[in-house]
Amino acid sequence: MERNILIYLTILTVIECSKNLGKICDLVTDDLLKQCYLRETLVSLSHSPNQLAVNKLTNTVYFSYDSGQGEYIPAAVQIDTKKVTILKGVKDAFAVTNDPINNEMYFGGSNGIYKYNPALQSLKRLTLKNLDIWWLFFKRLIYFIRFPSLNVYYYHNRSVKPLIPLKNVTVNQFVLDNDENIFFINGTGLYGIKNGKSDIILLRDNPRFLGMAANNKGHVYLCSENEIFVISKMIQKVKKIVNIQGVLGMTFDKDNNMIYSDSHEIVRLLPISKSFSKF
Ligand SMILES: *[C@@H]1O[C@H](CO)[C@@H](O)[C@H](O)[C@H]1NC(C)=O
Ligand SMILES: *[C@@H]1O[C@H](CO)[C@@H](O)[C@H](O)[C@H]1NC(C)=O
Ligand SMILES: *[C@@H]1O[C@H](CO)[C@@H](O)[C@H](O)[C@H]1NC(C)=O
Repeated sequence: MERNILIYLTILTVIECSKNLGKICDLVTDDLLKQCYLRETLVSLSHSPNQLAVNKLTNTVYFSYDSGQGEYIPAAVQIDTKKVTILKGVKDAFAVTNDPINNEMYFGGSNGIYKYNPALQSLKRLTLKNLDIWWLFFKRLIYFIRFPSLNVYYYHNRSVKPLIPLKNVTVNQFVLDNDENIFFINGTGLYGIKNGKSDIILLRDNPRFLGMAANNKGHVYLCSENEIFVISKMIQKVKKIVNIQGVLGMTFDKDNNMIYSDSHEIVRLLPISKSFSKF
């Protein structure tokens, strides 16, 4: 019964663009609209952590990179100018997310959580002790996964509380969609929890999902070693879109274009047809 209300996975598959399409298309999709994408490299920099986030006001991608000294340094690339800025003051930024209402960014790592307001250029460390952060997610509240337990908590009223349906559950990454359903991945598979319910429903245990992100409309995207997927609420609609190897993190710009990182660069995918630009 529960399964009906959930969610059907749409499988996106890659077809590498054939050479004769030249530079017009970099990735052809098997989608109904025969859409294809241009790959636009935003920055070539080794990217290890698995989170990226865009400040929609300034259209700037925030990410972190390995300093080579056991610490991740936060940085930003403005999408239109490709200007890269290194942020100072955050000690270890493994995770990053954005608050789209206040246009603020959060960074998390071995020194807890920092809140950064780009407009005011203000940086504040939340008063949380002994927190090592693995993953951040913002939806009205700041949610996070602690390391090494990989359990999910949120911060409210200056205190840390477990997210009840996920209490004691090992979670590698999670997001909430627009209906406040929870989706998470761990080493066993992709799971969903309907808003207000406590049943944890296994949605897929194959392929192995390595990353996830919600786009600006709350649609949930996933990546495996070779493919990118979207969770669709349309009944049993399975369509292929795109296959990209080695994706570590995903996010969406202010126009909902996908941005992803792999171990050496951050790339934006620009659809050729405008009719498809909003997914
Ligand atoms: C937050 O704290 C305020 C004041 O201490 C309290 O009145 C309120 O009920 C708290 N809210 C929640 C959701 O715990
Ligand atoms: C969570 O784990 C703790 C410690 O292992 C245990 O005491 C507690 O009962 C568990 N809670 C739930 C809801 O399973
Ligand atoms: C993933 O979560 C499910 C649901 O709680 C749990 O049964 C499973 O053991 C978890 N997998 C890992 C590797 O912790």
